[in-house]
Amino acid sequence: METVGYVVRPIASEAELKKVIEINMVTLPEHYPYFFWYEHFELWKDIFLVALVGENIVGYNMCRIEYGLGHVRRGIVKQGHVVSIAVLPEFRRRGIATALMVNAMNAMKDKHGAGEVYLEVRVSNEPAIRLYEKLGFRKVKILKKYYLDGEDAYLMAREL
Ligand code: ACO
Ligand code: ZN
Repeated sequence: METVGYVVRPIASEAELKKVIEINMVTLPEHYPYFFWYEHFELWKDIFLVALVGENIVGYNMCRIEYGLGHVRRGIVKQGHVVSIAVLPEFRRRGIATALMVNAMNAMKDKHGAGEVYLEVRVSNEPAIRLYEKLGFRKVKILKKYYLDGEDAYLMAREL
């Protein structure tokens, strides 16, 4: 198999944001209004990452920073929240999502001082659950009927 290199870096423009939204539309059932994407683009650029193969965006990881009750630490903590991550089907199983996660987690810790990171994932989404477990996330709890279609979510988290 020919290996194709990729680059992971922060999102750079609103044109790139539009590409990210296109990828979201074809890869996930969870979509968001434009202002929600734009808020993350404006406020948390250094943890809103894209993956490029050549000149094309093939994946993204949109994150935010929150304060909340710790999922793996005690008390109120600064938390990174992975809101949405996806890689186009033809570019999967090459480590791109891993790179998107590792880079985002490093920036959450080093640039924002976050002490933990969490996310929600469909209980049926085995590829994503495996990815997160491989990265050291653990299932913290089940959020019943978290999704609009009634499916439950696992809340998964790890220390940073
Ligand atoms: N089956 C089993 N394990 C898998 C699979 C799969 N289809 N895909 C990834 N994994 C696990 C494997 O352990 C893999 O390591 P390996 O290839 O050495 O075995 C590890 O995850 C890392 O895989 P990556 O290559 O880094 O992941 P990839 O770039 O393929 O992207 C992703 C994974 C993001 C889950 C991709 O399948 C995708 O875009 N799915 C649709 C969108 C989605 O479900 N996003 C997550 C929703 S939850 C949220 O956004 C918070
Ligand atoms: Zn979430």
